Amino acid sequence: MIRLSKSVVGKAEAEAVAHIIEDIGYLGMGATVGEFEHELENFVGGGRRCVCVNSGTAALHLAVQAVTRPGDEVLVPSFTFVASYQAIKAAGCRPVSCDIDPETLTLDLKDAERRITSKTTAMMPVYYASNCCMAEEYQAFARKHGLRLVEDAAHAFGCTCKGKKIGSFGDVVCFSFDGIKNITTGEGGAIFTADEETIQKVSDARLLGVEKDSEKRYAGLRSWQFDVTEQGYRYHMSNIFAAIGKVQLARFEKEFAPKRRAIALRYTELLKNNPNVKLTPIDYAKEVVPHIFALQILNGKRQELEQRLKENDIQYGIQYAPNHHLTYFKEEVSLPVTDEVYSRIISLPMHPELTEENIERICQLINTL
Ligand SMILES: Cc1ncc(COP(=O)(O)O)c(C=O)c1O
Repeated sequence: MIRLSKSVVGKAEAEAVAHIIEDIGYLGMGATVGEFEHELENFVGGGRRCVCVNSGTAALHLAVQAVTRPGDEVLVPSFTFVASYQAIKAAGCRPVSCDIDPETLTLDLKDAERRITSKTTAMMPVYYASNCCMAEEYQAFARKHGLRLVEDAAHAFGCTCKGKKIGSFGDVVCFSFDGIKNITTGEGGAIFTADEETIQKVSDARLLGVEKDSEKRYAGLRSWQFDVTEQGYRYHMSNIFAAIGKVQLARFEKEFAPKRRAIALRYTELLKNNPNVKLTPIDYAKEVVPHIFALQILNGKRQELEQRLKENDIQYGIQYAPNHHLTYFKEEVSLPVTDEVYSRIISLPMHPELTEENIERICQLINTL
């Protein structure tokens, strides 16, 4: 079987976890989380601060809660994982479903602009398939309309836009470190921002709202007398997760990033002349480290491809079911590009252990459709 995605972890991660259990002896949030945050800050750069949490969804939830008020409207593409919508809703806000651009498959700013009301205070663009080439446009748009910007960069850890790392600029940027992302902590996420008020809010909110508890935890202490002024959650990261993350971060540039890039470039090479295939133009050579490889199958041939992949024991993804069709988020809204892309999209296997033989076999099934 060829897997769609996979955690690539081994002896080094196992030894790091063993070190926490056998030598450190404290499994919860302690010094290792602080170390991981510093390493992430150095890696991303731009003088940004980082706060780690226990999922990408938690990162988005806390970020939205920090920059909005309940009842606010948040612009978001319907073509995203349901996590983006749940995070907005969890913060008491209303996700306003927007269409995507047919070329980038990310938030269409013209469509988003039409949906702004007096209640719109924030937007959450999503770097679908790690495509973050629009980052500066999103920032300019948010500035122009006085909106806070929470970037869902769950797919885009380690990517750059015009040479600048995602997370090193902008307002608030959230990453996911779940089991199959560009780096993993098992489950996990991080919030990056230069805004001290947001840092303070998300640092407290991840620890049940206990004021200024993070620094104490890093020092192996706890607050016993404290105040709570806002809704908080048990969203902090554990030393075990952070220990895995430190190893993964050290492996990223030399091992994971070149492999992921090479796979995407090879798929592109083998599929670029296929008239049944529409590829999204993404700069895998320099800027993007792809988390998924998604393409559109034209001429009504996706179902046939799905059948072929199933028969050949090759996993695939349909990412994502548009949120405005889900019962909980249902909206009578016309999003023609989203609906068309959803009918054609398919994700091919993408993980650092995929072989050249695997890629050729998958592309041969597509090229003989
Ligand atoms: C676009 C997007 N946003 C948010 C998330 C949420 O991340 P997590 O699974 O770490 O909660 C994901 C995870 O797959 C995602 O793909």
